Parts: sequence; C-alpha cells; structure tokens
Amino acid sequence: MEHEATTTPTATETKRPLLVVSGIEKSFRMGSQTLHILRGVDLTLHETEMLSIVGQSGSGKSTLLHQIGLLDKPDGGTVTYDGTRLPFRGARAAAVRNRLYGFVFQFYHLLPEFTALENVIMPKMIGEGWSAYGRQKREIKEKARALLERVGLTDRMKHRPPQLSGGERQRVAIARALINDPPVLLCDEPTGNLDVETSGGIKDLLWDLNRTERQSMVMVTHDKSLAERTDRTLELVDGMLRAL
Ligand SMILES: Nc1ncnc2c1ncn2[C@@H]1O[C@H](COP(=O)(O)OP(=O)(O)O)[C@@H](O)[C@H]1O
Ligand SMILES: [Mg+2]
Repeated sequence: MEHEATTTPTATETKRPLLVVSGIEKSFRMGSQTLHILRGVDLTLHETEMLSIVGQSGSGKSTLLHQIGLLDKPDGGTVTYDGTRLPFRGARAAAVRNRLYGFVFQFYHLLPEFTALENVIMPKMIGEGWSAYGRQKREIKEKARALLERVGLTDRMKHRPPQLSGGERQRVAIARALINDPPVLLCDEPTGNLDVETSGGIKDLLWDLNRTERQSMVMVTHDKSLAERTDRTLELVDGMLRAL
C-alpha cells in the first residue's frame, strides 16, 4: 500500500494570524542620551498559539509587551488584531485593551484590600460599568468562582492577597486575566518571582490553559524551561526579534 504524502504543514502555517506586530520602534530619552530599545520589531501571533519571547535583562522585553498591550505608544509601527489596526492612546485604546487582552505580571498587581474573588471580578466591573455590572452580578460572580476553581483556588476565594502565597497570588492574577475571555493573554515573567517548585505549578497551569482551552498567549520570560514548552520562541536582540 502506498504511503500518503508527508507534506503535512506545520501547526503555525495552518492557523489564522491573530496579532500582527509590525515595525515597532521605541526609544527613551535620558538627559542628552537616547536609548533605542526597540528598532523595528515584527511578530505574528497565530490563533491558539503559545509564543515566548526571551532576551537578556534590559533588552526591552517588557517595553515590547507594553506596546503590544496598548499600555504605551511606540514611536513607530503598528499592531493589528484580526486585520484591524489598534489604537495606542486614549479611551479607545483602553476599551480595546480590556476586550482583547488579559495581563499577567511578575508581581501579580493585585489589590491588597480586596478578596481573591473581588480581584477577579474587578476587570468586569471596570469594563461593564457600574450599573451593567449590577444587573449581571450573579453571573459574573459565578464565572469568577469557576475561574478560581479552574486555577486551583477553590478554598481561597475569600482570602486577601497578603494572606496568600506567591504562587496563589499568581493564580488569582491568572483568573483575573481570564474574566473577560480575552482572545490573547500577555504574560510578563509570570514565574519571575516564584521558587522553582511553585513556578512549576504556574507553568503547568499556563500550558494547560493553552492546550485545553486553546488560549492564545505571548509569554515574556527568562525561564528557559517555560520557553521550551511553548510552540515557538523568539529572542529579542539589539532591538529586534529573531527566531530561536
Ligand atoms: N520609561 C522608561 N524610561 C527610560 N528608560 C526606560 C523606560 N522603560 C524602560 N527603559 C529602559 O529600556 C531598557 C529595556 O527595559 P525593559 O523593557 O524593562 O527590559 P526587559 O524587560 O527586557 O528586562 C532598559 O535599559 C530600561 O532601563
Ligand atoms: Mg522585563
């Protein structure tokens, strides 16, 4: 019997481009000096792809994630989502950011005076506005509870961040990042503040979200063992990305 042709396209080739980042430039002026941090960054994130960006400390990884995440305005270049060019500034950028992205940061950025459940609900309150939130309160709370269960915090919903371990705080932050069903999760050193064992659990969780729920994500990381588990790794060198 004849074998079938073995020209199976790679996973990336068959997937739809979701985010297309093109020619991003960013400099910072420090006194008389200008630091050219990003010098024309191009990258494409495909649907359901888990992409990692590595690079030396100070190479501009966080700066790049801020431009992609519409938290800052680049000096040049564009970001498109599903073919539409995204705004970098103003209320429109904030609205797009809230709908499109979930953010996970190294230091969690949780509100210490609110419970885990309230922290997860927060982006919904902000996104929906107070009165719309009031009408959907029950469903939103249910969803937040389900997300906290999903990240393994069934017994920690009423704890406040100071009463949680680092790994538990990051799990709350991941649940919060998912409350608006963002098409793209942006993570900046998600395991950077955790010991080896705890960070292993966070890596497993992120990987599982990608494999089980097909969550697309861009992961900035120092952590080689995390990068190795992603679909594709790019390295930021001299202000530009190259395949690793
Ligand atoms: N707001 C800023 N003003 C001036 N310099 C900055 C600013 N943000 C970042 N930088 C500089 O840009 C470089 C890249 O920073 P960053 O993106 O945080 O690097 P990484 O995340 O790869 O460690 C660093 O040298 C940093 O000092
Ligand atoms: Mg950084």
